Amino acid sequence: MNEEQRLDASKVTQKKEEKDYSQYFQHVYQPPNLRDARRRGKAEVEYHMDFEIDERFKGLGKGRKFFIRTYGCQMNVHDTEVIAGILTALGYEHTDTTDDADVILLNTCAIRENAENKVFGEIGNLKHVKQNNPEVLIGVCGCMAQEESVVNKILKSYQNVDIIFGTHNIHRLPNILDEAYMSKEKVIEVWSKEGDVIENLPKVREGGTKAWVNIMYGCDKFCTYCIVPFTRGKERSRMPEDILDEVRDLAARGYQEITLLGQNVNSYGKDLNLDYNYDLGDLMRDVSETDIPRVRFTTSHPWDFTDNLIEVLATGENLMPHIHLPVQSGNNDVLKIMGRKYTREEYLELVGKIRDRMPEVALTTDIIVGYPNETEEQFQDTLTLYQEVGFEHAYTYIYSPRDGTPAAKMEDNVSDQDKKDRLQRLNRLVTHYTRDALSKYQDEYVNVLCEGTSKKRDDVYAGYTDKSKLVNFTAPDDGVIGKIVKVKITETKNYSLMGEFVEVLNEEKVEA
Ligand code: 5AD
Ligand code: SF4
Repeated sequence: MNEEQRLDASKVTQKKEEKDYSQYFQHVYQPPNLRDARRRGKAEVEYHMDFEIDERFKGLGKGRKFFIRTYGCQMNVHDTEVIAGILTALGYEHTDTTDDADVILLNTCAIRENAENKVFGEIGNLKHVKQNNPEVLIGVCGCMAQEESVVNKILKSYQNVDIIFGTHNIHRLPNILDEAYMSKEKVIEVWSKEGDVIENLPKVREGGTKAWVNIMYGCDKFCTYCIVPFTRGKERSRMPEDILDEVRDLAARGYQEITLLGQNVNSYGKDLNLDYNYDLGDLMRDVSETDIPRVRFTTSHPWDFTDNLIEVLATGENLMPHIHLPVQSGNNDVLKIMGRKYTREEYLELVGKIRDRMPEVALTTDIIVGYPNETEEQFQDTLTLYQEVGFEHAYTYIYSPRDGTPAAKMEDNVSDQDKKDRLQRLNRLVTHYTRDALSKYQDEYVNVLCEGTSKKRDDVYAGYTDKSKLVNFTAPDDGVIGKIVKVKITETKNYSLMGEFVEVLNEEKVEA
């Protein structure tokens, strides 16, 4: 679609049964469409290497401030860093409060209904900000912006929102803001496409110690409950060299840890048309050969967890011994209905293979309870799987129907009370295992990347171990911040460890 078409609101086709909201606005109106978002064509991914801020937009933000609130996963956290990068390049300054902001953006998450409700609550709260300052621009972006029902609801009930842009439109933010200022009307630009790869976007990273590095975008797994393949487009990998350049640059700037990011990182490389095979294992090996002291990756799907990857993880010293491996359920029938494409036995076999090569690895997972028609016996299978693996921690959720996904159309005979009850029982087990895993650290020595002071006390420092355990520790002074230090554990708690600083481990690297 070209620019002219995009600007022509009359070309937008709406589903018949939907009300036409175009009366409420609009200069630019390009709403999302879940049916288009689901499509997966044969067209090759386009790589755009030449992003730059157009001359006519430079200085757009001069004398203006921006505030971004981020909801949801690490992908969103990193998108916020890109949005902040673009706004900063436009001349905006960051502010920590909505009170003195000229642009307020909510970077939203659509994964569960309660995530969406939080956002609607916040948009409601922002009404008074708009009343105090009618000039402020309020924007909604991220995964919720990709949903037709959300855009319609905002247009109908939240007149204080000025701009809505989708996950494929982040690089268009300069145009969108310019349009909003010029037209003084609502601007909605949400492309429901499979997606491109756009390189060289500016980023303002939070903190100078740990960095997120995108390795791929989108998801083609279409687990039956999940909205992500609709909101984030198809699986598309960045070129290995672009990723490695970014990692080398971060290492040279003193970053101590990177996390390779993707919705489903184990599919990395499948879509690349290279003359040779190159998968996540190959990428991890190449990343491990850079100077970055710590490397993590998230999120994994058990389906494509290759032997090559296990081998590389077992040997790379800077590859952290923690794998987050969402299982979702321990019952084969539920896994099948979820579209996860592995069985309980296959998952356990994979865990066995990983542990054979990495006996010390920490495994964590995601679990959904109360899937449509899940029986008590099926839920029990999830509990026994949890015990069998002995996960060190889990993120647990009650199933939340998402419009447009296959599961949302399923009849469901499980009561809300049963779902809550199952979540509680699972959480009790999770807490028990988490505490048990932490209790083993009493009087042990661990390596901690110190990120700063603890949330509660300025004289206590905080960071994570190789296996992602939170440690709060005392140290003589601020010199530990940004360094990997040895800490002796003096107390173990339910969700964290307490300790005392022993010595700095990577002094030379930081100064290099
Ligand atoms: N309802 C509940 N939990 C969900 N997740 C994804 N979609 C849903 C849903 N519709 C959970 C999965 C996933 C994690 C990021 O969120 O466990 O791994
Ligand atoms: Fe959602 Fe499944 Fe893709 Fe993960 S792998 S983002 S749960 S569809």
